[in-house]
Parts: sequence; C-alpha cells; structure tokens
Amino acid sequence: MNNKINEMLNEALKKLQTAELIDIENIKVEYLGKKGKITEILKKLSSLAIEEKKEIGSCINMAKIQLIQAMEAKKKEITNKLLEEKMKSEKIDISQSFAFNFPKGHYHVISKTIEEMSDIFISLGFDVSCGQEIETEWYNFEALNIPKDHPARDTQDTFYLENSQNLLRTQTSAAQIHIMEEQKPPIKVIVPGRVYRNEATDSSHSAIFHQIEGLVVDEDITFAQLKGTLQLFINRLFNQEVTIRFRPSHFQFTEPSAEVDMECVFCRGKGCRICKGSGWIEVLGCGMVHPNVFKAVKYDSEKYTGYAFGLGVERFVMLKYGIDDMRVLYENDLRVLRQF
Ligand code: DAH
Repeated sequence: MNNKINEMLNEALKKLQTAELIDIENIKVEYLGKKGKITEILKKLSSLAIEEKKEIGSCINMAKIQLIQAMEAKKKEITNKLLEEKMKSEKIDISQSFAFNFPKGHYHVISKTIEEMSDIFISLGFDVSCGQEIETEWYNFEALNIPKDHPARDTQDTFYLENSQNLLRTQTSAAQIHIMEEQKPPIKVIVPGRVYRNEATDSSHSAIFHQIEGLVVDEDITFAQLKGTLQLFINRLFNQEVTIRFRPSHFQFTEPSAEVDMECVFCRGKGCRICKGSGWIEVLGCGMVHPNVFKAVKYDSEKYTGYAFGLGVERFVMLKYGIDDMRVLYENDLRVLRQF
C-alpha cells in the first residue's frame, strides 16, 4: 500500500515538473479532489486494522503535504517567471515623461522675432538692456526734450497711473536716459520691450506693442555709422539685400532726425495695397542724439556724439511673415500660433 502511495506521489510530482498554472489545478483535482486518487485511498482506510490504518494514514498525510508543498512551490515559480518577463517587457523609459503625446510649446512669433533681432545686434557688439515699463514724466518725456505742451503728453495718448506721478512708458526711448545716467560712454545698447499708448486698436495699432530701442554714444559717432548699422540689420533680418531710404523727419530727442522706409517686400517697390501704392514702407525712426538730451544726463555734448533708433517689432513681424492685420498677433488663435 505504501509503495502504491509513493508511486502515486512520484507520478504527481513528475507531472508537476512540466505543468503550467492551469495544470496544477488539474493535478490537485486528480489527486486531492473529492474523487482524487489519494482521497480514494483515504476512503479505504476504514476497512483496515488499527495498526495498518495508522501507518498508511500517516504515509498518505505525508504524501498529501509533500504534494501540496510541491504544488505551491511550482505555482510560485511560474508566477515569478511571468512577473520577470512582464517587468522585462515593460521597462520604464524615464526620458519619456508624458504618457500622452502632448504637442511641444514654442515661443510666440513676437518673442521669436525679438530674439532674432537682438541676436543680429548682439553680433554687431550691442549689449541688451530691458529698461522698465513704469516710468516718470522725466524719463519718458522731460529728459528726452519733449516739452510740457507736447501732444504726446496728453492723457489721450499716454496712460498715467492713478494717484501717482508715474505712467506706462510710451516709448523704449525712456530707457536711453536711465542707461546714460548710470553709465559713461562708450555706450552701445539695445532695449527691447513693451510700450503702451492710449489708443484704439485697429489693423495697424494696438494699445500695447513692442519696440527695440538702440543707442550708441562715444566720441566721433556719425550718421554714416547709423545708416550702415540699420542697413545691415534689415538685410540680415530679411535674408536679402533690401533697399532702404532715410527720409528727413522730426523727433524731439534727435537732431537731425530721419524715418527709415524699406522697399515694400510684397510688391518689390512696384506699389500694392500693403504699401498703399507707394512702393515703400516706413519701418523706424532714428537720428543723432539731441544736445539737450546729453545735457539732461550731464554728458558733454562737445565731446560726445551718438545715434539712436527705435523700431516697432510688430511692424517687422507683419512684413516678414506677410500678416496684414496686427490683431492676429494678439488673439492667440492656435491656427495662427501653430504656423510659427
Ligand atoms: N521713440 C520713437 C517712437 O516711439 C521712435 C524713435 C525715433 C526712437 C527716433 C529713437 C529715435 O531712438 O532716435 O515713435
């Protein structure tokens, strides 16, 4: 009887060796289930003599325990193996930080253009300063030789801050004064930034827009240098030789002053809707720093000369990308933003 039990046990253990999870359940039923082979022997015990009952009973119990332990061990072995395989196939790639394929963000075309423009000036030896958006009348007007009765000072043109002497700068030119108050020549700097005007928005105006100011001061600075710098800047920005012209103009803080027009890039100077038939588009103001401005910052205007310029960033963005309505740049329509 004992031999039969051992044989049965060995048979079960052998089956276990090659078993899968599901087979283990079947082996359990086959040997230990209600009608299982080992259970059947147990049932026969009652007909045996006491001594035999004891001996065979304990042999069966041993076999049962051994089989159960073997089945548990096999189960563990199989599940561990499955887990290991799963771990291998599910290696976590920590460089993939998102579970979903989110689109990458990017700079707005205005910021991008400011970067691009700044890089050109940096390559020409200019420093970059940012100035400040809240100014006093001194920096925005007075020191720039803009008299008290000048229309730009009117509240219809300028945002004054309530209950204070401060205002939102209407031009980055205000930064010229801070820079010259703080530093001695030589100065060669650009100031990109936001400016504010109290005016209605339309296709070519906005109450908030961006300018880049330029200021160069040293001994023997000439208008010719100003011309050369601006020509080079515009050629580089548009990646081509662009014809520009300097038209005499007037700014309070420069003398002589000029406005710069560039040949219309849309019609190549022939005249179209964008350049209003003239073939030219006005892009910036510039000139030689006015002696009164030097006086305000206590520079010796006999010793130093300087040039300054101020350009509207939006105007250049519109020309570069063929946009004919400025409002498009502020509406954050994704169909527009995604194009840049
Ligand atoms: N500040 C002027 C404006 O906002 C632009 C300008 C013109 C700046 C001539 C200058 C300059 O530095 O020399 O219209």
